[in-house]
Amino acid sequence: MANKEDFKFDKRADKYDEGFEGKSSKKFYDLVTTNVELTEGMNVLDAGCGTGTILRRLADKCPINGFGIDVEEKMLEQAKTKCPEMDIRLCSCDQTPFADAQFDVVVACMAYHHFPDKDGFSREAARLLKSGGRLYIADPKLPLPLRKVVNAALDIHKINGRIYTADEISANFAPFGFTKLFDRSDAYAQLVCLERK
Ligand SMILES: C[S@@+](CC[C@H](N)C(=O)[O-])C[C@H]1O[C@@H](n2cnc3c(N)ncnc32)[C@H](O)[C@@H]1O
Repeated sequence: MANKEDFKFDKRADKYDEGFEGKSSKKFYDLVTTNVELTEGMNVLDAGCGTGTILRRLADKCPINGFGIDVEEKMLEQAKTKCPEMDIRLCSCDQTPFADAQFDVVVACMAYHHFPDKDGFSREAARLLKSGGRLYIADPKLPLPLRKVVNAALDIHKINGRIYTADEISANFAPFGFTKLFDRSDAYAQLVCLERK
C-alpha cells in the first residue's frame, strides 16, 4: 500500500519538469498561456505554482508582477530559480498572507484537483481578487465513464483529488461570487475562466 509521503511532489521536484508530469502538462501550460488576458504591471498569483513554469511563461508573454505559492518547499526552490524576480512563498492556497483585492489574476494550473479545502481556496481567491478580476482553473478533463472510475478509485484509496467537469468547477465557485466567462479544452486538458463580481 502506498504511503501518503509517496505522493509528495517534493520527492520528485528536481525531475518534475523533465519527467512525465512536466511533459504531459504542456497542453495545460499552452491553454493557460494562450487564454489568460494580461496587461503590463498586473498582479498575478499562481496558486500551487509548483516549479514556476506557468509564472515564467506568463511573464515572458507580458511584464507582470508575479507571485507564486505552494505547500512543497523543493517545488518552490525550482520556482525561485526559474522566476528570481518574483515573490514566491510557502503557504497554502486557502490561507495566504496577501492583502484583500491585491490581484488582477489568480491562476491554478493542474493544482485545483489537489487542493484539500476547495471551498477554502474559493473563499481566499474571492478575497484576493479585485472586483472584475479573473480566476483561471486549468485541470484535467476526462470523458464521463472514465471520470467516474477515476473518482471512485480516488475515493476508495482515500487519495485527495477529484476530476471535475467545467460546469462542476463553475458551480463550485458560484457561491463565492464568481461567474463563468468561458471554458476551453484541448484533449485531456481544460481551462475555466471565472470573473470575480
Ligand atoms: C501537479 S502540481 C502542478 C504544479 C504547477 N502548477 C504546474 O502546472 O506545473 C500541483 C501542485 O499543487 C501544490 N499544492 C497542493 N496542495 C496545495 C495547497 N493547499 N496550496 C498550495 N499548493 C498546493 C502541490 O504542492 C504541487 O506543487
